[in-house]
Amino acid sequence: MGIASLRKQALDEAESIEDVKQLESFRVKYLGRKGELTSVLRSLKDLSLNERRSLGEEANKLRRDLEEVIDFKHKELSAGGKEEIIDITRPGKKVQVGHLHPLTRIEDEIKEIFTSLNFSIVEGPELESEYYNFDALNIPPAHPARDMWDTFWLKQPKNAKERRLMRTHTSPMQIRYMETHQPPFQIIVPGRVFRYEATDASHEINFYQLEGLMVDENISLANFKFIIEAFFKRLFKEKIEFRFRPSYFPFVEPAVEVDIKFTTKGRGEWLEVMGAGMVHPRVFEAAHLNPRDLQGFAFGVGIERLAMIKYKIPDIRMFYTGDLKFINQF
Ligand code: FA5
Repeated sequence: MGIASLRKQALDEAESIEDVKQLESFRVKYLGRKGELTSVLRSLKDLSLNERRSLGEEANKLRRDLEEVIDFKHKELSAGGKEEIIDITRPGKKVQVGHLHPLTRIEDEIKEIFTSLNFSIVEGPELESEYYNFDALNIPPAHPARDMWDTFWLKQPKNAKERRLMRTHTSPMQIRYMETHQPPFQIIVPGRVFRYEATDASHEINFYQLEGLMVDENISLANFKFIIEAFFKRLFKEKIEFRFRPSYFPFVEPAVEVDIKFTTKGRGEWLEVMGAGMVHPRVFEAAHLNPRDLQGFAFGVGIERLAMIKYKIPDIRMFYTGDLKFINQF
């Protein structure tokens, strides 16, 4: 038998040794006076110098390895399994450490940027009333603008005073916050929102928005532009192209939308990332503030859309697949 097969046979056998007696028979079988390896070592002297060299080296290495195995097994078995034998030479197991989801990471980064610009972070309820989500934002029941937000309505309890829904945007927090705080203030409101609409590469049925609101006596769109430029510069760290487009939302006047140039698969496209504008006088009135004394800007930005641009992700649905091949890249 060649040394390699002898090694395999001996090591396989060593695996199944269960007590000291078996270990001793094992030792005798291979390393005893008439042992299998001993006879190989003995026969070396009859070989030519070259053969002796190569075979000798292999056979001696096997002897040392078997002695080591026997020694190790001996310690293990004589401890009666009570004491743990730690073989520090065995390769370790890689510890799997978790990490933050890309959306959590970008949200943290966005919050840090805005807090450094003196904004406070506020949160609001995901389950909202029709009043805060729509009416108080100057979108009465029959208003065609309600069609801009396809809504998940909740079953209404009997005798309910108002209809309930899953908020379609973070804007209801503009009213909730202004009802209970006196200007000047500047806040951001990160949170989950829900829309009953078909999904595609840039639309999910539930996604995250971040609302911004800054109110004081002398605020104009120029303040908004300054803040948003500072925000984009810090978040993307590289030069990005963005544009303002005139738009319409009933709770701001004038209204704009902001798009960022998004290059994926070699094609550059404009991706809409936020709606914004100057707080409408009716919104101040709904919150019992006097629109003659105040101005403010508000914006609502899609967090997934910013993450798509920052991490060059072509499809919003990838964030929610739970696919480790995707998640582990972050
Ligand atoms: C709004 O929701 C307004 N509340 C924004 C606003 C706030 C305007 C304050 C004025 C003042 P809109 O429906 O366009 O607007 O959504 C805002 C942003 O959310 C979009 O620009 C986009 O980035 C993101 N968004 C909208 N729908 C989806 C969707 N289905 N999936 C992922 N992101 C979306």
